[in-house]
Amino acid sequence: MYWAGSAYTERAMKGLILSGGAGTRLRPLTHTRAKQLVPIANKPVLFYGIEDMAAAGIADIAIVVGDTHREIRDAVGDGSRFGVSVTYIRQQAPLGLAHCVLTARDFLGDDCFVMYLGDNMLEQGLAEFVEGFERQRREGSGEQDASGAGSCRAQILLTPVENPSSFGVAVIGPDGDVSNLVEKPADPPSNLALVGVYLFDSAIHEAVAAIEPSARGELEITDAIDWLIRNGHRVRHRLLEGWWIDTGKKDPLLECNRLVLDTVVRQVDGAVDGASRVEGRVVISAGAKIVNSTVRGPAVIGADTRIENTFVGPYTSIGDECVISDAELDHSVVLEGCRIHGTSRITDSLIGQHVQVTRSLERRQVSRLMLGDHSHLELG
Ligand code: DAU
Repeated sequence: MYWAGSAYTERAMKGLILSGGAGTRLRPLTHTRAKQLVPIANKPVLFYGIEDMAAAGIADIAIVVGDTHREIRDAVGDGSRFGVSVTYIRQQAPLGLAHCVLTARDFLGDDCFVMYLGDNMLEQGLAEFVEGFERQRREGSGEQDASGAGSCRAQILLTPVENPSSFGVAVIGPDGDVSNLVEKPADPPSNLALVGVYLFDSAIHEAVAAIEPSARGELEITDAIDWLIRNGHRVRHRLLEGWWIDTGKKDPLLECNRLVLDTVVRQVDGAVDGASRVEGRVVISAGAKIVNSTVRGPAVIGADTRIENTFVGPYTSIGDECVISDAELDHSVVLEGCRIHGTSRITDSLIGQHVQVTRSLERRQVSRLMLGDHSHLELG
């Protein structure tokens, strides 16, 4: 992706994906594992962001990592399978999104970049958002003074939400530019939340170096963007099209899984015996075995998983190497290596890796679960 206007030197746009931080809100599920690797339709959330960047022509990507860096490196590798180059940048502690930009200073140089929160998922592709920023900069370049003030230095993506206090919130001025930003305000000045995708030029480096930590002790990117505005720079916005989900919580994660499963294309690579039914848009991965069971899509069944005497209902993702027998599940995400046997119906549930759920006494109606990795549960 290159700037086309004569006012700018031709240079590539870089990508910065934030995958450090602690997954406290998905605990216990992610107390040992990166929340960015939690699967949506059996693919880690982070992979969707990388694919989105690759599709927008951004091939030079850094991933900011924290304590879970090994896991993320093992999953993503050097980026070649996505057609991009991935550099890892270690952030010593989760000191905030603006701190990530400070930490990535050497990688970013003076290039424009797109910053993407590794636990966010968007239906909308990045390409149009990036092109809009390029266009703004070309068209606005005549207005800048020698310091660069007056030109568009950042573009944010906004969407109306019902609970703005849980997000960064923006106010749009009469000229259509962003006039004010505040992080997780108790008394929100608008209902427009910042979605986890941002476009910056090199002016952001001065901003992240100038701001102070917030009340929660973090260097907020929201404050850095607000600093740009206070210092005479233009910040533009786009309104999000389609859905967006911050997957760091159970219910949004299940919702995201539902939305993505709605787009899967039927593919049956595993074995389905004569007593089983596989209905609708279902992915049965290689090595999976469906025995005397019904799988009603949309659903995905991971590689080498065995489903026996079981009903798998719509909007369910079951990871690799699971064994599910004499059970009933729907609207749930089950990570790899789980054993589920003889349970009452499991619904609206997120089940970590290598969890065992077995039944000891008589059947009950419905169970709602959020279980951490390596849990062992016997349902009554
Ligand atoms: O989801 C959108 C919201 O994301 C915005 O509306 C907010 O303005 C923005 O501050 C951010 O809020 P969160 O509180 O949801 O951010 P979270 O702590 O979940 O971090 C987002 C991603 O960045 C996540 O993948 C972890 C990573 N991260 C976070 C911090 C604080 C880092 O890599 N390093 C960090 O220091």
